[in-house]
Amino acid sequence: MLLRALDLADEQATGALGAALAPVLRGGDILRLEGDLGAGKSTLARGLIAALTGVPDAPSPTFTLVETYDGPDFALWHFDLYRLEAPEDVWELGLEEALDGGLTLIEWPERIEGLLPDGALTVRLEVAGAARVARLEGDAPWKPRLSAAGIA
Ligand SMILES: Nc1ncnc2c1ncn2[C@@H]1O[C@H](COP(=O)(O)OP(=O)(O)O)[C@@H](O)[C@H]1O
Ligand SMILES: [Mg+2]
Repeated sequence: MLLRALDLADEQATGALGAALAPVLRGGDILRLEGDLGAGKSTLARGLIAALTGVPDAPSPTFTLVETYDGPDFALWHFDLYRLEAPEDVWELGLEEALDGGLTLIEWPERIEGLLPDGALTVRLEVAGAARVARLEGDAPWKPRLSAAGIA
């Protein structure tokens, strides 16, 4: 269900949404980052990764397809599956380990539809003129968590 729609006026606002989510995310969570090329998925991930790990300029995993980080008490996995050739190739990237207690951020989760468990939070980003709109979707348990993050 749609939990919240937010206007993101500039790149900083997209990063700030990622940073705002950071304190309520934990190991075992999946964050789906959806939207076209250039919508702001990596920008949001960068803000989140900076807030959670202290790494200020996380690279986009455009070519490596995955980057991993040490979170507070869990690993953070950042996937970009745009260039994934076949869905099952994702296992070679470590998805199973990521899902087993890590925080999993995924750009282009549509590439592996059916391989991800339910219960993810989805942030769908759309270009709106020079700015962006973010739509946050998830099941009921995400509601209080977004409230705690000051987002819903
Ligand atoms: N809210 C926003 N308003 C305007 N530009 C933005 C916004 N958020 C991100 N951008 C810009 O969009 C471009 C693409 O962002 P990026 O995060 O790489 O997209 P994606 O990972 O979805 O392909 C970057 O130049 C970034 O600065
Ligand atoms: Mg990207």
